[in-house]
Amino acid sequence: MTDRTVITFGTFDVLHVGHLRILERARALGDRLVVGVSSDALNRSKKGRDAVFSQAERLALVGALKVVDDVFVEESLDLKRQYVVSHQAHTLVMGDDWAGRFDFLSDVCEVVYLPRTPSVSTTAIIERITST
Ligand code: CTP
Repeated sequence: MTDRTVITFGTFDVLHVGHLRILERARALGDRLVVGVSSDALNRSKKGRDAVFSQAERLALVGALKVVDDVFVEESLDLKRQYVVSHQAHTLVMGDDWAGRFDFLSDVCEVVYLPRTPSVSTTAIIERITST
């Protein structure tokens, strides 16, 4: 049987346990996990602020996790279909903050939304640090 590739996307800035948990759960859905890490420009357009860590640093951190097999830079949200096809992904995993938004890709892969880990986010961590 061919290996099943799972793909997921995100900024993964100030890496935290919510990031680790979704990557672990995504990896458990297949044999191989590929992660698209938002470019600095894409992150700025999505979140309206610069990432704390550069795309090269975020790529290195995510790529070093043992559940991650491969990483690449996601340049645009509009290229999701191309990324899924070029990485031959069987399953696209997104956090449920994106629920429904990628159902239009279900003709090329299975689309799964996983619940976010409660009470942790990059935004909350930055706010906690800057307010102390
Ligand atoms: N994620 C998660 N649980 C959390 C935080 C994030 O499962 N508590 C998931 C998101 O749903 C997404 C991936 O991790 O699939 C990358 O999320 P990202 O936007 O980089 O992290 P956030 O912590 O949500 O960042 P921010 O606060 O800047 O929006």
